[in-house]
Amino acid sequence: MKKRMEQRTSVLTTLLSCALIIAAFWMAGCSDGDGTGEIVLDPIDELVSEMTLEEKIAQMAGSGPGGPPFSVPGVERLGVPTFEMSDGPRGVQAQEGTTQLPVGMARGATWDPELERRVGEVMGSELRAAGGNVLLAPTINILNHPSWGRAQETYGEDVHHLSRMGVAFVEGVQVYALANVKHYAANNIENTRFDVDVNVDERTLREIYLPHFRAAVLEAKAASVMTAYNLVNGHYCAENEPLVREILKTQWAFDGFAVSDWFLGTRSTVPSALAGLDIEMPSAMHYGESLLEAVRGGEVSEALIDDSVKRMVRKKLQFRLDEPSPVDESVIASDEHLAVAREAAVKGSVLLKNDSAALPLDKSALTRLAVVGLLADTPNTGDTGSSNTTPSFIVTPLQGIEEAVGSEVTIDHLGTDTIDPADEAVIQQADAVIVVTGLTAEDEGEGLIGAGDRLELGLSSERVALIQDVAALNARTIVVLEGGSAITMGDWLPDVEALLMAWYPGQMGGHAIADLLFGDANPSGKLPLTIPKSVDDLPPFDAESSSVTYSYFHGYRHIDREGLDPELEFGFGLSYTTFAVDNLNADLSNAVAGDVVVFSVEVSNTGEVAGAEVVQLYVTYPGSAVERADLELKGFQKVMLEPGETQTVEIELPVNSLAYYEVSESAWVLEGLQYEVHVGRSSRDLPLSATLTVEEARPVALY
Ligand code: BGC
Repeated sequence: MKKRMEQRTSVLTTLLSCALIIAAFWMAGCSDGDGTGEIVLDPIDELVSEMTLEEKIAQMAGSGPGGPPFSVPGVERLGVPTFEMSDGPRGVQAQEGTTQLPVGMARGATWDPELERRVGEVMGSELRAAGGNVLLAPTINILNHPSWGRAQETYGEDVHHLSRMGVAFVEGVQVYALANVKHYAANNIENTRFDVDVNVDERTLREIYLPHFRAAVLEAKAASVMTAYNLVNGHYCAENEPLVREILKTQWAFDGFAVSDWFLGTRSTVPSALAGLDIEMPSAMHYGESLLEAVRGGEVSEALIDDSVKRMVRKKLQFRLDEPSPVDESVIASDEHLAVAREAAVKGSVLLKNDSAALPLDKSALTRLAVVGLLADTPNTGDTGSSNTTPSFIVTPLQGIEEAVGSEVTIDHLGTDTIDPADEAVIQQADAVIVVTGLTAEDEGEGLIGAGDRLELGLSSERVALIQDVAALNARTIVVLEGGSAITMGDWLPDVEALLMAWYPGQMGGHAIADLLFGDANPSGKLPLTIPKSVDDLPPFDAESSSVTYSYFHGYRHIDREGLDPELEFGFGLSYTTFAVDNLNADLSNAVAGDVVVFSVEVSNTGEVAGAEVVQLYVTYPGSAVERADLELKGFQKVMLEPGETQTVEIELPVNSLAYYEVSESAWVLEGLQYEVHVGRSSRDLPLSATLTVEEARPVALY
């Protein structure tokens, strides 16, 4: 379904022009002309002053459950356009046939913000072409546990990495449309998402659960934020004054608007309005008439309503929503956009094992290839909840492989998860066997409308047996794994020669997988999460509890602190070439608050083929006055190198990003310490080190 936004030239445009002229006069030192000083200079104030209370309140709730796009009224008589909102994180849902990208986790695994910015542009432009103007994405809830049903929508478990990817996506979307950053905050459980009370201490909240939202707001200037369903420290997020009014709107000076999550996302009228919730979605259940009465009864001031409406009008002006879409439908699933989807699937796939150089497969040396598993020819692109999209085609792994090898190679397709005795000879005779397996929307997804949280971190026993049975029959067993987050694999990983983590790779995924299997592309993805040996190595995850307490430590921070070894560490990923890192240097060895230290490192491609490496910079805090993570990612840079090529990569480290949140002072404090900086190719492969001295402790403003 598609709705066109009103496209006539409006009062908004006229007012915007007036504002620009007035601003020009002002800058030139002109006064108001008659000396009264009474003129209204702000076009937003002026426009809102022309609205009735009813018109203002109508703009504070969606106009109905139907969608996407989900509409939020404007004021037609004043030419104020509607918001038209659509999910979501892996493509535009509002219209069939839009480009379907790999899920967020796959894109997180690219460690490539420049690519993610282009992904954002793809979605932003397709949204406008489809008649929408607010994209309900990105999902930037941190992956505090891989069991989270919506893990696939976000970018990973690390605060810094998540911030960089989220900022890039928002910037890309906002070339065309408004981004809606969600779900604010601490939304990391599906099964009890409507009612779970997340208890999180102030320091953990500030350092682990909020920095990526702060970055999206302050750096990327996200136009809107969606409050989460859950409670944080006893208050539903939509009526959580500390989160919305104080932190988001006051401390971060957010000038956009806050939207509730759908249906049960708003629970009250007055508390929500007072807390700073600007729009109830998808319809007026607590706002509308009830809010009107609350204003008339003096419980909510009209000034507060004006503030909400001005926030929306400001963004409508800024994004010129009253004007025709800058792009037409020809952008939807254009060759260029499909190429971005394929590129993201290629660059986000992570080569996790490659014994005996099993990969890449040499097409010219193959005669028979067996492609095995129920998922080999199944479109498997992720959750069927709100992030679902309907592309006009999906390339399955089998289709991608068939197209890549052409008619020269015989492909035996066994589209089953159980090997019959009759299949054994087929597997034995193959030059190599590709097993496509993993998780589906039946295993993980959004709560209520999807599968919810994962019950197990491993594969089903049937799928484990499939891998083991195939590996017992053919030594050249290559697994292509699909899924939205960490999958434990100790029970079958030793049996197989190679493993490619493809996540849910989107509609072009089959081509991307084939590109990588046959060496037309070289894997360059890195894990944006930890794959533990066992679920017991992670903090507890309770998907049924109505109250949970989040620890400061999760993911690699938890594994490191417990002295455990992961199955595969955060930041890990192999390539068909080899790399060396050398010569770590910094432009400063003593720094003060506000400095940005530039670290440089030489990266060489020491192998035979071109490839990309992600140089990663981690920091440790010896002697810190507060408990810190053993190691924290603070910078990274992806670099493409030809065989034999060496490049100097620079990674900037803003010294203020080393600060911790001192609860007693309600302030970020940069400690006077000798910080250690470690650089390398994963969180457990850090051959280079340097020291960075900060003499004096100082409170700092972050960003
Ligand atoms: C989800 C949001 C989504 C909204 C609209 C909610 O259930 O939590 O992420 O944007 O629905 O589809």
